[in-house]
Amino acid sequence: MRVGILTGGGDCPGLNAVIRGVVRAGVGLDQEHLGLLRGWKGLLEADVRPLDVANTSGIRHRGGTILGSSRTNPFSLEGGGARAVAAARELGLDALVAIGGEDTLGVANRLHAEFDFPVVGVPKTIDNDLSGTDYTFGFWTAVQIAVDALDRLHTTAESHDRVLVVEVMGRHAGWIALESGLAGGADAVLIPEVPTSVERVCEHITARAERGSLFSLIVVSEGVQLDEVADTGEVDQFGHTLLAKAGVGDQLAARISDALGVEARAVVLGHVQRGGSPIAYDRSLASRFGVQAARMVATGQFGRMAALRGATVVDVPLAEAVGTLKTVPPEAYALAQIFFG
Ligand code: F6P
Repeated sequence: MRVGILTGGGDCPGLNAVIRGVVRAGVGLDQEHLGLLRGWKGLLEADVRPLDVANTSGIRHRGGTILGSSRTNPFSLEGGGARAVAAARELGLDALVAIGGEDTLGVANRLHAEFDFPVVGVPKTIDNDLSGTDYTFGFWTAVQIAVDALDRLHTTAESHDRVLVVEVMGRHAGWIALESGLAGGADAVLIPEVPTSVERVCEHITARAERGSLFSLIVVSEGVQLDEVADTGEVDQFGHTLLAKAGVGDQLAARISDALGVEARAVVLGHVQRGGSPIAYDRSLASRFGVQAARMVATGQFGRMAALRGATVVDVPLAEAVGTLKTVPPEAYALAQIFFG
């Protein structure tokens, strides 16, 4: 079988380990591989490179993706779905492994549902917001990067009696904020799922100061909406607002400074959370997902996605994965709150 592989959407630590896993497992299943460059764009433009064991060796620990990525959405183009299917036929593809998040897998799901396209998905995103899987690969690496930053920021905040507001990624799900805040000892964590007010945050900082802690570390997820944060109006091809440009971290720090007369500064971790090597967990999970995808191709499990359930890699319908965003449940936030302050 000739199997295409593409990586779409924001890059994520572990993409290369998945590619290597698909190829390594696939060759033993009589599969040959074609890498499609820059996500769905590579399929539409037949921009490809052959992949084999030799040219996918030594990449398991490398960040980014050897195939490049983009947020190209075929369905935003006139007749884009049919064009994608025709392009796959031209390339002689018998199957496609799409490694991506909500958007990339949303396209994969539509191609399968509307055109019976033989596609298998692998759940990627630092945001961990895909349903159908307990974790996406790349998430825990992003959390670790945020925790490393929080550990460093802790000592400098304490030395200067400052309030540091740390803005993390995650789009409309607060997973990165929650887990990094929990592991990194944040004094408050603001996530999109649990509305709060600047006044509440200020009360919290004041209570800490009264107890003798004149510094605070506040983690805020980029998707949090403070009342006056302006929508920049800028969207990507999938219609997502470019949240980082709304600058919730800066807004929050400014409002804390104004309200309390303390020195509050914002640190925006941004793309640092997506770059560099995956931690061991993500290398392992990504490799297992890659093997699962190759096996799913071999057994014709199309329209489905490799997924983690507990400690086991299984597969689930793509529709389940992209149907609803997986957000932080109230009980998970309530548990983390025990450690705030
Ligand atoms: O989905 C991953 C992610 O890093 C989000 O957390 C963030 O909102 C978005 O991508 C940023 O995308 P871009 O790099 O295209 O601005």
